[in-house]
Formats: sequence, C-alpha cells, structure tokens
Amino acid sequence: MLLSSLRGRLVPCVCLGVLGLLCWVWVSFASLADEQLPLGAWEAVDHTAFEPQSALSEMEFASISSYRGPGNNDHRSNKELPILLWWSGGLFPHFPGDTERIDCAKSSCLVTSNRKVQLYKRTASIIFYGTDFRAYEAPLPRLQHQTWALFHEESPMNNYFLSHGPGIRLFNYTATFRRESDYPLTLQWLPSLDYLLRPTAVPLEQKNRLRREGLAPVLYMQSHCDVPSNRDRYVQELMKYIEVDSYGKCLNNKQMPDHLEDTSTATGEDPHFMSFVARYKFHLALENGVCPDYMTEKLWRPLHQGCVPVYRGSAVVADWMPNEHSVIIVDDFPSPKALADFIKHLDENDEEYEKYLQFKNPKSITNAKLLESLSTREWGVNDMSKPNYLNGFECYVCDQENARLTAEKAFKKGQSGEPAPPKMANNSHMGCPLPQPGFGEVQDLPEDDGWLQIWPQDYWQSLDQAEGLESLIRHNESDPSLLWKHIQNIAMSRARGQR
Ligand SMILES: *[C@@H]1O[C@H](CO)[C@@H](O)[C@H](O)[C@H]1NC(C)=O
Ligand SMILES: *[C@@H]1O[C@H](CO)[C@@H](O)[C@H](O)[C@H]1NC(C)=O
Ligand SMILES: *[C@@H]1O[C@H](CO)[C@@H](O)[C@H](O)[C@H]1NC(C)=O
Repeated sequence: MLLSSLRGRLVPCVCLGVLGLLCWVWVSFASLADEQLPLGAWEAVDHTAFEPQSALSEMEFASISSYRGPGNNDHRSNKELPILLWWSGGLFPHFPGDTERIDCAKSSCLVTSNRKVQLYKRTASIIFYGTDFRAYEAPLPRLQHQTWALFHEESPMNNYFLSHGPGIRLFNYTATFRRESDYPLTLQWLPSLDYLLRPTAVPLEQKNRLRREGLAPVLYMQSHCDVPSNRDRYVQELMKYIEVDSYGKCLNNKQMPDHLEDTSTATGEDPHFMSFVARYKFHLALENGVCPDYMTEKLWRPLHQGCVPVYRGSAVVADWMPNEHSVIIVDDFPSPKALADFIKHLDENDEEYEKYLQFKNPKSITNAKLLESLSTREWGVNDMSKPNYLNGFECYVCDQENARLTAEKAFKKGQSGEPAPPKMANNSHMGCPLPQPGFGEVQDLPEDDGWLQIWPQDYWQSLDQAEGLESLIRHNESDPSLLWKHIQNIAMSRARGQR
C-alpha cells in the first residue's frame, strides 16, 4: 500500500555525502538495442547491449560526474556493469527512461525494466515485486548465472506463492516485512520514533466524559472485509460481550459524521479524521493477514493517536512495541469474552488504562530492539533525506551481485580456493501460515462459508504453483505456460505414489 503511493513518482535521491549512505545519481539513461533477441543467442549477445541513446554520446556519458559511496571505487563504464532487470515493469524506481546507472555504497550497476535483456549474460539478477509475481509469467529458462531478488513489503494475502518453501527458495535475495529477510522492511509503517510520541493522547477525563455520553470503549473501522485473517468473525463474537462502534463497510453499526464521510476508508492522516478516532480508548487493530512481523498502520496509528491497540497479526508483535505495556494482544486471551472482560476492566480503572499510554513519555520507550532498528535503518519513510527502501534494496542487490561476480572471477582464475557459496531464501523470509478462521475451528464451519471457500484454497493452490514452477525450472523449460501441465504431472505422480 505504501508502495502504490510511491509508484510512478519516485525520483532519484539527492546525494548525501555526509551521511555516506547509498546514493543514486542521475547519471544517464541508456537505451537497449532494438533488434529482437533470438532465443538461444544469449551467450553471444553481450557487450553491444547498452549503447547510449543517440542524443547522449559516449563522452557525455563519461563527463557527468557521479557521487559514489565512500566504499565505491567502481570506475567501469556503463557498458561493463552488471545488469539488474526489474521484471515487474510497473515498479521501476527511476524516471524517466527504462534504464539507468546506479552507484551504490560499494559498487555500480545498470538497472533496467526492459525485458529484452532477460537472457543476456551480463544480466546478473532479476528483481520481482511479490504482489505482481506470477508463476505462469516467470522468466524462463532460468539461467544458472542469474539470481532472483524478491521485493515484497505488502500483505501476505497478496501472494501466498511466496509463503511456501518451494516458492520462496527460488529467490536468492529478499526484502520483506520479516526480520529474517535479507533487507528487512519490518518497521516500514513506522516513520519515526517521534511518530509514537506525538501527538499526546486525548486526556483521560475527556475520554471518560465521552464514554458517559455514549461513545463505545472500542472502535472498529474496516472496509476490507473478506480477508484471510477473517477478522470480522472475531469482532462479531467480541461484540456480544462489549460495545464496539463499527464504522466502515464491515460489521457497520455507526455512521461517520458527514464531514468525514470521504475519509472513512482512506489511509491518509486527515487531522479531522484523526481527532475523531483518537477519542476512543481502544482500537481494534486486526491485520488482514496473519504472519510473523507483518505489522501495518493498523497497529502504529492507534499508538500515534494515544489509543490502545487491540491487536492480531504478527504473533511476535511484542518484540517491536515501545515497552512491555502498550498493546493488548488478542491471542493472549482464551476467548472473546475474556478479552472483553479485560477491556472493561481497563475501561473502569483509570490507573490501569493509563499504564498503556506511558510510552508517550520518551523515557518509557524502553525497547532497545525498536530503538536500535529505527536508528540504524538506512532507508526513510516519507523522508527525502534518506533513500527509500525500493532504491535501497536495488543497491543491496547490486553490491551483492558485484561481490559474487568478483568472487567467482577470483575462483576461476585460481586465486581463491573456494567458490562463493550459493545463497537462497527460505521460509523464514516470508513463510506465512495457512489462514485460520478468525474465531472457532475450521471443521465447525459450514461448507458454503465464504471465507472457507476462498482462503485455504488460495493458500494450497499457490503451493501447487510453487511446486509447478520449481519443476519447470528443474526441467529447464523456457515456456512458463507449461506450468499447468507440470502441476498436473506432479498431482498425478503423487496420486500414483499413494496407491
Ligand atoms: C540462487 O537460487 C537458486 C534457486 O534456489 C540456486 O539454484 C542458485 O544456486 C542460487 N544462486 C546463487 C548465486 O546463490
Ligand atoms: C534460512 O534463512 C535464514 C536467514 O537468511 C538463515 O539464517 C538460516 O540459516 C536459513 N535456514 C536454513 C535451514 O537454511
Ligand atoms: C536450457 O535451455 C536453453 C535454451 O532454452 C539452452 O540453451 C541451455 O543449454 C539449457 N541448459 C541446460 C542446463 O540444459
């Protein structure tokens, strides 16, 4: 979601020599030779690939000075650089043109969204956007020398392909919400520490007065209803035991005031909208998918507003909270009734309630992991003084690939006794579990249950696709539409094996 707002207006960052971070400079944009590349000719085609556009002579190329990270001594010309290909064309973080040189912390690369380079020897890595990744459109044949890099900051529900071992293991580098990924985006929805501290919460006397005037203790605001976490099923149950004001399309029981109608579904931070929701003591903060480290604005925004999130999403959310007493975790309670009783208890005990908001005092933010992670991450959120994580990951891949190529060369020349070890992702880089009903057990659901008909099936079908693509690659197929045939073959040999 965050990315879709960035899409199409990403501009290269200003250089920050002082910070010595990654940097992208507008050096040039080259174009690719126009001749169609015959399949199989990929060994031969190489150095002629990136001719500068006619308007830009080779000299101009060289004369534009480029900032380099302190560790970047890469003086190769554009023609010699490894190529990174963005397979998801909608997400090419440069503008204008489809090809650009990037000068990263340690080395340089040429990046492009032009698929003509798919089979080039110089194309070292292909970068995918997880939400758009489709097994039946994968770049095949997969070449031995090319790595695959996955960028997926969005919800697990967008592509369960990536949650299965056979799917995620096809990728060598990852940037996902999980802390175990190579370039973790875990705190992508938390702009800064200050975002947690400010504004101060609506004073408790005022919240209590509003309660006496009829405001429910709990807010729910959701318009995306049919999601894998099946949150409405839980909220419906919870509503039997405690009053919830529910705006939005799902489980609606309250109307937004007219002047806020337009923003009721927006994720923007409209001040009127914010002060409207900040009056509630508790916010139901239920992610659309359940997965370790998948945390979004649903969690951070109530903290920002000074409301207590009642959270379900990442089972390890406590690892990132400001202190040990700032969030109520749904799954800590044996039942919706037990959770409702606890919320009522806090609602009636000011002192207990206020403990949950102590983190608004900077001294009470005691989570060292959170503090360290915020201060050491190299990318920024809505912060033009820092690279965004899309460019950051691109540079991570560039530096990794250059290091790998250097190591391989040294090994071939006999200068190094060990080949570079292979590197690939595994389930700890995504690995989201099978969706479960928001409340109750799967076997108790009626067969025609809407959720049951969608999400468990989607999950298992994406495993079939992951196994199918793995099989296509293993057989060195070059036509991804053979996916369905491979899936069928796998199913058939499995059935035979079971007999
Ligand atoms: C990249 O991943 C693939 C598939 O998992 C693997 O076969 C290959 O060895 C990896 N490449 C590198 C350079 O580690
Ligand atoms: C999975 O990946 C993580 C993080 O990259 C790594 O630390 C771990 O050793 C890997 N596990 C296996 C079984 O390869
Ligand atoms: C894979 O297929 C391509 C052409 O589609 C071929 O050039 C290449 O030699 C094959 N690789 C292997 C390992 O068989």
